[in-house]
Amino acid sequence: MSKLSLIESSLLCLCLMCITVSLACPIAHRQALLQFKHSLIRNSSTDEILFDLESWNSSPDCCQWERVVCDSSNSALKPVIALDLSKLYLGSFAVMAPIFNIKSLTKLDVSKNFLQGEIPIWKLARLNRLVYLDMSYNNLSASIPSLLFSLRNLEHLDLTGNSFCGELSSHVRNLSKLKFLGLACNSLSGEIRKEIAKLVRLQNLWLHGNRFSRKVPNSIL
Ligand SMILES: *[C@@H]1O[C@H](CO)[C@@H](O)[C@H](O)[C@H]1NC(C)=O
Ligand SMILES: *[C@@H]1O[C@H](CO)[C@@H](O)[C@H](O)[C@H]1NC(C)=O
Ligand SMILES: *[C@@H]1O[C@H](CO)[C@@H](O)[C@H](O)[C@H]1NC(C)=O
Repeated sequence: MSKLSLIESSLLCLCLMCITVSLACPIAHRQALLQFKHSLIRNSSTDEILFDLESWNSSPDCCQWERVVCDSSNSALKPVIALDLSKLYLGSFAVMAPIFNIKSLTKLDVSKNFLQGEIPIWKLARLNRLVYLDMSYNNLSASIPSLLFSLRNLEHLDLTGNSFCGELSSHVRNLSKLKFLGLACNSLSGEIRKEIAKLVRLQNLWLHGNRFSRKVPNSIL
């Protein structure tokens, strides 16, 4: 091989590498998603899960996988920004540990997953870019942790159809960008917070099916 063709072929190699790198999601995100997938398979043997995440691994670029959306506005880096993990029968937050490391997430849907117990709020609160969070129709219990209301970018928060109890924290007022707040069908009690009236962008508020005292603050009506 001549010197020139050697240089040419190494240049070609470099270019191919560049293209591959620029098309792919960050390696850390790919690994986190695969770790999540593998823990699902190890802990559950329903065919549905395996079938559902079949596309995860088919391409080295996780941005091509089903249920995964990447930010493609920047050609060099395509971080994962949205994950639809609904109806995967997760059962426990334990399997989600790798997901909580994807800090670029702006949208996370874990609805209808038979999730039990308390929200692992210290992990969830790290995802502070979240704009959309759907945890509806699980079996989440205890009170809604006030740290959840530190996710100040949230525009859509759906906690409908769980077993949350106790009073709603006044810190809910911190979610000033909220357009949708779903709290229906839980066991929340106490008064309906007047702080909710301070959420000026709110368009949808679902409160039915709780144990709130009858009094609705005038500011909300
Ligand atoms: C798998 O299930 C076992 C037993 O329930 C549990 O201890 C373990 O944390 C689970 N693993 C993952 C990754 O969730
Ligand atoms: C929901 O969780 C509680 C414990 O927090 C449990 O007693 C109950 O059976 C669960 N319900 C369902 C439908 O899984
Ligand atoms: C809500 O905002 C107040 C005032 O900025 C702050 O002191 C408080 O810690 C915030 N609460 C949460 C849960 O982030």
